[in-house]
Amino acid sequence: MSSTERPATVSSLLGSISDVGRDAARGGYSRPVYSTAELDLRSWFRDEAQRRGLEVRTDRNGVLWAWWGPEAQDSLVTGSHLDSVPGGGAFDGPLGVAAALAAVDVLKARGVTAGQGRRSLAVTVFPEEEGSRFGIACLGSRLLTGAIDADKARNLKDAEGNSYAELSARNGVDPRGLGADPEALSRIGQFVELHVEQGRGLIDADPISGGAAGTGFPVAVGGAILGHGRWKFSISGQGNHAGTTLMADRADPLVAAAQIILAVQKTAAARDGARATVGRILPIPGGTNVIASKVELWLDVRHPDDAVTAAIVQKIHGQAQIAAANEGCTVSLAEESLSPTVGFDMGLQRRLQALLPGAPVLDTGAGHDAGILASVVPSGMLFIRNPTGISHSPQEQVEEADADYAATALADVLEGLL
Ligand code: GLV
Ligand code: MN
Ligand code: MN
Ligand code: MN
Repeated sequence: MSSTERPATVSSLLGSISDVGRDAARGGYSRPVYSTAELDLRSWFRDEAQRRGLEVRTDRNGVLWAWWGPEAQDSLVTGSHLDSVPGGGAFDGPLGVAAALAAVDVLKARGVTAGQGRRSLAVTVFPEEEGSRFGIACLGSRLLTGAIDADKARNLKDAEGNSYAELSARNGVDPRGLGADPEALSRIGQFVELHVEQGRGLIDADPISGGAAGTGFPVAVGGAILGHGRWKFSISGQGNHAGTTLMADRADPLVAAAQIILAVQKTAAARDGARATVGRILPIPGGTNVIASKVELWLDVRHPDDAVTAAIVQKIHGQAQIAAANEGCTVSLAEESLSPTVGFDMGLQRRLQALLPGAPVLDTGAGHDAGILASVVPSGMLFIRNPTGISHSPQEQVEEADADYAATALADVLEGLL
């Protein structure tokens, strides 16, 4: 931004990418990592950062860093992600990135300059936060911190059989360099991620409006992220003809899968605070007149107590074995990822609350790169009110006034921490 330009609003920044990655079939946006849509958003980010005089670099793990001030140890870092779930909303990820860019404008308009007598500021964009393409959420931050083995990450495959190593190489990231990067981490003195709230925490906490923009609390400070993990069931049966195979003669893995899904729902409903979901299931080969030979089914389980998460998965596994045996099938279970419950840095939490008076502290069931970074560097989060309380859906929403307020809230926080 030149000194004569007005600061960009978050809503205008988001408006400028509102056509990128729209998914007509599902509604909302599908922006998987390294898809045309996500790459277009990365270019948009580069251009916007460069217009503001920031220097953009891509690190060994494909994380974008836009530097205001020299690339230095112990800098203040903010950012989020630009990839989405299939048919996701407009705000999950891009809100934090757009707010960071707009906050830079606000700071410049206030005469605050990072890197000159203050710490440097970097805005980051993490790849594959959702794990929509390669199965493991927060893959970029897990690699950066060493929370995932680099070989495991390199060998992850997408639905078309492309490996993460191949996709990285195709997009200018040398796969041999993937993995823990202590040098990059040492540049993060503190990390703050601003994000749309993905549940009803803020609207339910709002005593006045029940969620209308402009009243109550538009922002919360992150307290903790529930422990969560992903598992994959593989159920094998006998593929066969839908018309010639009598009901008594079948070994149908999709019938076992249906019983497993019910067991997931019942097991989680019986435990306070638990959330368990089957959101993806793949019958193979997948034909209307074909009894499947195999079913793959993915399970997502979350609970504040990691031991309860483990107990839930164990119970579901036991019930899956019974369901499979009843149908003449076999079942195996593989853990794909597991993240313990993390509390955000208490010192940073208190600073964020002091800088945003009145903001409540909210825990969340959603995973974030800030949660992965929290195990290594002081990290915190800000959540912006979502009047629908719905996320990972086209119905995710942020009022325009709240989106624009996000830049001011983030600027206040960054100015206070710089
Ligand atoms: C990512 O948004 C997750 O919490 O699954
Ligand atoms: Mn997100
Ligand atoms: Mn998400
Ligand atoms: Mn997330």
